[in-house]
Amino acid sequence: MLHERLNWRYATKKMDPSKTVPDTKIQAILEAIQLAPTSSGLQPFEVILVTNPEVRAKLREAAFNQAQITDGSHVIVFAAWDNYTAERIDAVVDQIVAERGIAREMVAGYYDNLKSMMLPRPAEANFEHAARQAYIALGLGVTAAAFEEVDATPMEGFNPEQVDEILGLRARGLRSAAILALGYRATEGDWLQGMKKVRRPLDKLVTKVA
Ligand SMILES: Cc1cc2nc3c(=O)[nH]c(=O)nc-3n(C[C@H](O)[C@H](O)[C@H](O)COP(=O)(O)O)c2cc1C
Repeated sequence: MLHERLNWRYATKKMDPSKTVPDTKIQAILEAIQLAPTSSGLQPFEVILVTNPEVRAKLREAAFNQAQITDGSHVIVFAAWDNYTAERIDAVVDQIVAERGIAREMVAGYYDNLKSMMLPRPAEANFEHAARQAYIALGLGVTAAAFEEVDATPMEGFNPEQVDEILGLRARGLRSAAILALGYRATEGDWLQGMKKVRRPLDKLVTKVA
């Protein structure tokens, strides 16, 4: 059951460096990320899957030495578009038209309107919007990892400029938004393991308007 898996998962602080997440599970997590809903279906981000040990060592340095980055086996960096452009939005329209076999006019009006709203905005506002979409995918990645019984640590504790530099993201029109470290929890050495999950009670979190 999903809720059992969500209670099982925790933001793992110490991964077992001897264990590697199998490719099939990584694939399942990536496919969940791919299925994330995004505003207007733009999917305004890419994910960088890093296994290379040297690159992960550099990422760890850029992430305040968080050990999960090298003790786990995989790192996913969510890199949001640095801005919205006509080309990027047109490519989304092209794909919808091609894959659904519909007339361009069916969707062009909507996306033209979107372009007129987004393109004049400062790049920073568009990046922030894109990064919010990447966070939805991060959430699904966390959920999919739990479903696959893979341990995961979502992270925003890193220096984004350094991560961008390490992965050459700026040259690709991307900026790092969040990181997901994947691996298997170590049996000891993790202060958080076994601690009660702390959440506000539902009646404090939810206001019902019936
Ligand atoms: C966007 C985001 C960023 C986070 N950044 C870090 C991080 O850099 N390092 C870390 O150890 N945990 C990080 N966490 C984990 C949270 O601290 C953790 O999810 C929260 O305390 C709830 O605990 P739980 O996930 O174990 O249930 C982050 C979580 C999210 C969602």
